[in-house]
Amino acid sequence: MLEAHRRGEPRLTVSLDLNLTESEVTLRPESILFPAGESLDWNSLEAVSENETNCYYVEGNALQAIKGFSEFSGRVYGLMPTASAPTMLISGIPMHRIKDTNPHQDTLQKIKAIAPLKGNVLDTTTGLGYTAIEAAKTASHVVTIEIDPMAQKIARLNPWSQALFENPKIAQVIGDAFDEIERFEAGFFSTIIHDPPMFSLAGDLYSLAFYQQAFRVLKHNGRMFHYIGDPESKSGARVTAGVIRRLQEAGFKRVVRAPRAFGLVAHKE
Ligand SMILES: C[S@@+](CC[C@H](N)C(=O)[O-])C[C@H]1O[C@@H](n2cnc3c(N)ncnc32)[C@H](O)[C@@H]1O
Repeated sequence: MLEAHRRGEPRLTVSLDLNLTESEVTLRPESILFPAGESLDWNSLEAVSENETNCYYVEGNALQAIKGFSEFSGRVYGLMPTASAPTMLISGIPMHRIKDTNPHQDTLQKIKAIAPLKGNVLDTTTGLGYTAIEAAKTASHVVTIEIDPMAQKIARLNPWSQALFENPKIAQVIGDAFDEIERFEAGFFSTIIHDPPMFSLAGDLYSLAFYQQAFRVLKHNGRMFHYIGDPESKSGARVTAGVIRRLQEAGFKRVVRAPRAFGLVAHKE
């Protein structure tokens, strides 16, 4: 938009929802006019173009960063753009893979590792809801748990997360997955998608006690995909070894590495 304005173009087709759809904006001398009637001055748009780690929305002709401090966790949550779907930053750490891939492809890899998804699915950590949304395309019911209300607030403002709020097959729970998992009946889920933050941010979700609960709520022949991180990295290899040991201790006899999805698939047989 800035370049087109410099060239003196009066109109431009752009994506205003992070590459999902396109719309036409009017480039006026003082400001840019959006289709819904809002406008933004050119200095504000310069500021957006200089920041590569934040997404923004326009409200009342002013810019609002999609970012917030969580009173709950004491961490800053924000939405970061990529060439594909955006990711969520927690204390500056991206919640999806963005190196040599993108959050959308990352999500598809996780789902592919345990496809086909059918019946009741538990998605232990909602985040931006990408895994829950993808799972709900084939499963009959998806329960997704998020500990931090700020994550849900960020997801509400993310165009790529809207099915999380609109798909009646998805039930959202705000709570700690470590506690919430105890509420489900034994054998209720056919599949679990476990995509926790890194070990240092959420140690409970890598514990034997949590894996025992995951084993209990899975039905016979059920499977859990467990995201861990780059298996080639030093920390990834170390965490993976500990996770495999505890999963086996919890009862998962067969634990198979899923390196393309940076995780493991644990089978309840
Ligand atoms: C890696 S992201 C999940 C990404 C998600 N699968 C997606 O597709 O967008 C991890 C999320 O887990 C949340 N979280 C951290 N600890 C949790 C807990 N104990 N219970 C539930 N959610 C938790 C974080 O707030 C964050 O939103």
